[in-house]
Amino acid sequence: MKIAIFAGDGIGPEIMAQALRVLDALRLPGAVYLEGDVGGIAYKRHGHPLPEETLINARGSDAVLFGAVGDPECDNLERHLRPEQAILGLRSQLGLFANLRPATMFAGLEDMSSLKPEIARQIDLLIVRELNGDVYFGEKGTRTRDDGQREGWDMMSYAEDEVRRIAHTAFRAAQGRQKRLTSVDKANVLETSQLWRDVVVETAADYPDVALDHMYVDNAAMQLVRDPGRFDVIVTGNLFGDILSDQASMCVGSIGLLASASLGERQTAHGTFGMYEPIHGTAPDIAGQGKANPMAMILSAAMMLRHSFGRGEDAARIEAAVASALAAGVHGADLGGRASTQEIGDAVLERL
Ligand code: IPM
Ligand code: MG
Repeated sequence: MKIAIFAGDGIGPEIMAQALRVLDALRLPGAVYLEGDVGGIAYKRHGHPLPEETLINARGSDAVLFGAVGDPECDNLERHLRPEQAILGLRSQLGLFANLRPATMFAGLEDMSSLKPEIARQIDLLIVRELNGDVYFGEKGTRTRDDGQREGWDMMSYAEDEVRRIAHTAFRAAQGRQKRLTSVDKANVLETSQLWRDVVVETAADYPDVALDHMYVDNAAMQLVRDPGRFDVIVTGNLFGDILSDQASMCVGSIGLLASASLGERQTAHGTFGMYEPIHGTAPDIAGQGKANPMAMILSAAMMLRHSFGRGEDAARIEAAVASALAAGVHGADLGGRASTQEIGDAVLERL
């Protein structure tokens, strides 16, 4: 089990340390860790946010465990040197086109949600976000118009094969859940979205057992806070998925609780090669203070065991340990509690 460990910036190293304690406790047979620098720290040490060596380690591994990247000190660098390019580069260069972001209510956290408890209790959804295309990876630039005004531009596009493969991922995910899929787009305005919708409809023919509906992204944002229980699986493009997944996290109560898996086509001995990361960022305001909630990172490690190593039982044990710690009131500052990063790790380990 070759696991690349890229802790990154800000709170990344602190939360990664707790995830590694959890993995160690499972005594995984033959686990080997390949560490690598990514993000701002990599820029400072090697002059690039995604050094060649890191990429080699990623390619040589069965799974990548990723903390977070981003550093306010790097915000003024040229775009290709900014920390965020590490995550975008890994996603595209490793062909990780399918980003799975589950959002489920944890028992006992209903009052932490920004929604009314009786509405929050219903949340059990999976966002399937396309990760290799859209306006994220289109051509972009700045120019000066004839009238002297500066203009920034970013090209949004999706090719049908890109839509088809993520649609298949989403339909299959829905088959393993409640068999309901909502495709989110902006087909009333964008050509990109019209093609998206057409291809999703074509793909649906292969999945007669899944109920498909379509929603414009503005409406989806509204329904997500009005009636999140109506959603089972949501499939959407890169930009809309980025936004809706942050929104879903607050409905659950804290962005410190949401994990993600980024998967491609490459198969490993026991599953699919993937990269696993919390959906939150580096939280520079609390970095190094032992205040970060490591649960999203720990839950990302659980997703790794399930998807890349065929260890669904270990994954379920970790998830149960986290849920039990939360139910017992082990809450970090993100949930209005006092538990430190280390104490949250301790609480999960005890239950494991
Ligand atoms: C995410 C993040 C990234 C994204 C950033 C850090 C580039 O917000 O994983 O959701 O926009 O995809
Ligand atoms: Mg995001």
